[in-house]
Amino acid sequence: MMSGVWVFGYGSLIWRPDIAFRERRIARVRGWKRRFWQGSHDHRGVPHAPGRVVTLVPDPDESCEGMAYLVDDSVAEATFEGLDHREKNGYERHAVRLEFRTGGACDGVVYIAPAGNRAWLGPAPEDAMVEQIRRSVGPSGANIEYLRELGAALRELAIDDPHVFTLERMALEAEGRG
Ligand code: BEZ
Repeated sequence: MMSGVWVFGYGSLIWRPDIAFRERRIARVRGWKRRFWQGSHDHRGVPHAPGRVVTLVPDPDESCEGMAYLVDDSVAEATFEGLDHREKNGYERHAVRLEFRTGGACDGVVYIAPAGNRAWLGPAPEDAMVEQIRRSVGPSGANIEYLRELGAALRELAIDDPHVFTLERMALEAEGRG
């Protein structure tokens, strides 16, 4: 039997895992959708001007594809301590069922910022979300870079996400307008 813990990434963990893993696979979680509804006071914004980053929002009709990483048991505790620290701004660990694109399924762990957490922003009109993302900057860099990195990483993996691609396109158009 394979030892280790599968950690599912749907945001920055896709393009910047910064964790030791034995293997990675594209995977899907059902019943969840990716949304730019979580505030970021510590990475892509600051407390008085938070940026927007992704979380998973429950929706029985949707699913979300991302990247799953198999972390060895020997480093799992340290890995989770590191991720707990990195994602301390409202994210909590959840158990999820992962379906691999190449076939098969496995239990895994994902970090989700639930509605109502201390940094929660929730939905907003798309143009307002784009403007917030365009103007926000935090210790980890510009919020717009986060959106671009996510869009690029999803395209690279042939993952479709209309929510992300719409915001990315609108940001690009807004940039063109100056
Ligand atoms: C992720 O990529 O899955 C992720 C990144 C930041 C916070 C929570 C989750």
